[in-house]
Amino acid sequence: MSILVTGGAGYIGSHTSVELINAGYDIIILDNLCNSNRESVKRVEELTGKAVKFYEADIRDPEALDKVFAENDISSVIHFAGLKAVGESCRMPLEYYENNINGTLVLCASMRKAGCKKIVFSSSATVYGEHNVSPLTEDMPVGGTTNPYGTTKYFIERILEDIYKADNEWSVCLLRYFNPVGAHKSGRIGEDPNGIPNNLVPYISQVAIGKLECLNVFGNDYDTPDGTGVRDYIHVVDLALGHVKAIEKVLGESSFSVYNLGTGVGYSVLDMLHSFEKACGKKLPYKIAPRRPGDIATCYSDPSKAKRELGWTAERGLDEMCEDTWRWQQQNPNGYK
Ligand code: NAD
Ligand code: WQD
Repeated sequence: MSILVTGGAGYIGSHTSVELINAGYDIIILDNLCNSNRESVKRVEELTGKAVKFYEADIRDPEALDKVFAENDISSVIHFAGLKAVGESCRMPLEYYENNINGTLVLCASMRKAGCKKIVFSSSATVYGEHNVSPLTEDMPVGGTTNPYGTTKYFIERILEDIYKADNEWSVCLLRYFNPVGAHKSGRIGEDPNGIPNNLVPYISQVAIGKLECLNVFGNDYDTPDGTGVRDYIHVVDLALGHVKAIEKVLGESSFSVYNLGTGVGYSVLDMLHSFEKACGKKLPYKIAPRRPGDIATCYSDPSKAKRELGWTAERGLDEMCEDTWRWQQQNPNGYK
């Protein structure tokens, strides 16, 4: 039996694929490569020494999905495939709703047809919206999202919940990621954003390698220890290992479950910058810029439910996140290209 990994050529999907194979699972990757490169799958094979079956296909294509289910014995799906850029989603809401929501509907219909009813879904801390106070717990109200990307995550959570309510043979696990950063220790796989990065760590990393001039720190007048935004950064390998635990759960007794995957510790923009300076051994230029619309001051998880129920905790700290990002950046200055 295999696990189908949608979006498995992407940043989190490729790291999770490595950890699933290391844990002894057979996997199949399906990705339309709209935000990734075939090379990442080759590197997953290189790192694990195992051949990986890859389908270049779109989750919105029912025939392609039916074919994948017909050709393989698939026990469960880890569903990463989706568009994820917050700013772009505000400019292109239709594309985001169409890709992320319609894609999930088509995927679930094909799963049901094939009798495969076990799914782990990539949700996000963004579903907690603006009004909950950190540390965020899974029982807090969700919704009130501030951008179409976040709203797709909130809607997909509700869709999967309704599917489970209607048919308890489904087993659904929603994973709410906080801020994934870092890269595999080998420096062979990592985050490869298109164009100028939106997220903090890829941006700092490109300043460090000399591709960008200076970090803009979006606001230093928040109600936080140093005035800059505080987030719960989680090493992508810890996140990947959380998926191994989640898949064990969905493969067991049918259930609907939700877990935060974070460290439970918040760091500021300047903490991150200084840790990266240590990793790359040089001072990095930055300037204070206006707040970015839609940002909140502080967001971090209470990860205790995942510890209690999945036996999972994040183990890698901020310095390791930066060292591993820097190794990936140095070894692959142009990403996979
Ligand atoms: P990513 O863009 O690197 O990976 C997503 C993958 O999905 C890409 O390889 C892309 O080509 C593929 N894809 C997109 N639409 C597709 C479609 N219609 N059919 C087939 N493949 C498709 O992003 P990531 O950072 O690895 O994120 C993975 C998942 O985790 C996403 O669902 C994202 O929303 C979610 N998530 C990411 C973060 C983050 O900060 N990176 C945080 C919370 C949640
Ligand atoms: C982190 C901090 C910025 C860039 C986003 C999505 C969220 C989730 C993770 C998918 C903030 C500051 C950033 C820069 C800066 N993705 N910053 N200068 O906004 O917490 O979360 O990615 O689900 O949904 O919203 O992450 O990395 O963009 O920002 O000062 O050039 O760094 O203001 O305080 P964010 P981020």
